[in-house]
Amino acid sequence: MIFKSIATAKNLHGKTALVRIDTNVPLLGKKVLDDSRLKEAVSTIRFLEKRGAKIILLGHLGRPKGKFKSKLSLKPIGYALGKLLRQPVRVMPLSSSAEVIKQATAQGLVLLENIRFDKGEDINSSDLAKRLAGLGQIYVNEAFSCSHRQAASIVALPSKLSSFAGLGLVHEVEALEKVRRSGRKPVLAIIGGAKISDKLPVIAKLLPRLKAVLVGGGVANNFLKAKGYKIGRSLYSQAEVKIAKSLLRRAGKKIILPVDVLVDQPKTKQAEAWLKKVNAISFNDKIVDIGIESCIIFSNYLKKAGTIFWSGPLGLVEEPNWRHATLAIGRLVSALARRRVYVVVGGGDTTSFFYQHSLSADYFSTGGSAMLAFLAGEKLPGLAALGYYQKK
Ligand code: 3PG
Repeated sequence: MIFKSIATAKNLHGKTALVRIDTNVPLLGKKVLDDSRLKEAVSTIRFLEKRGAKIILLGHLGRPKGKFKSKLSLKPIGYALGKLLRQPVRVMPLSSSAEVIKQATAQGLVLLENIRFDKGEDINSSDLAKRLAGLGQIYVNEAFSCSHRQAASIVALPSKLSSFAGLGLVHEVEALEKVRRSGRKPVLAIIGGAKISDKLPVIAKLLPRLKAVLVGGGVANNFLKAKGYKIGRSLYSQAEVKIAKSLLRRAGKKIILPVDVLVDQPKTKQAEAWLKKVNAISFNDKIVDIGIESCIIFSNYLKKAGTIFWSGPLGLVEEPNWRHATLAIGRLVSALARRRVYVVVGGGDTTSFFYQHSLSADYFSTGGSAMLAFLAGEKLPGLAALGYYQKK
């Protein structure tokens, strides 16, 4: 495996670097709740500045699908990044002319608006990449967590410029590569969260490496539905239920599902929670967390693990009443990490939950789905675009 790190780049003085970072961070209004993904970009930005390069940052927030959405503007993120770097970060619309962007870049750090406002991003458009490439001379990928996406700023753009891996990305790939090759057995995964369409196919690829996968969050709803349980108003997708069914047929014994759940009902305005067995969920219920018995079952598996991968919370943790299971299992995993178990936690929501509750892990990955895909041995398009999978 080879990687051209930005640390090896020569003659950067006066050049403009387009740096893809992950700006997809949790926000409450305009406040960034967890800036760890932004922090990941700092060392590369400082490195480029010290070598006299100018910088244009590229990033996304949410999934606007080619349309402008003011709620998904990168302005609050530019402000948070500016505070981290102690210098202003100018957020510029994608429609600005190349001349105007170049002038602003000569004066300081520029962050282009949400790249997913342009419909070319999600379809890996060569035209968009060409337009972006016209703004600079080199490209740096400092967004491991987005490197599983076939997107213009991740795949098409590096083919048009001299391209490098950012310092954080190199470190992250090396750390995960080590776990992938020599993780202590048995290996267990905890998979939850809401990004079900990414996670189910990855579970299929990860399963041969795993002793068991403990499933919670929105991902579990699909499995419960696939097993024929009623899941009321809970989040699911028909396509994923189909994948879940086939996974259960192939490796049902390794897939450990909740046996009880907390449900919320829309009767009152306040969030409430009732504990129910999975065979007693009614049409009005919405699953918001896994239950006590499920936590005990999950704990018994985890106590026997050598390595644990965790991506995605077990409940809707943004609501304090619905974070009990994630916190209880998080405390156990944290205690195991301090002993003999190697724990890797990935993804914005899960790492932010760990930081918020002072929980420990051996390694925090910026990537949720990207981390799982990498650990499953999938070739990430963003890494392939940097030449990572070419033989020496
Ligand atoms: C993430 O949050 O995992 C990355 O920013 C990628 O976001 P996406 O799942 O919307 O592509």
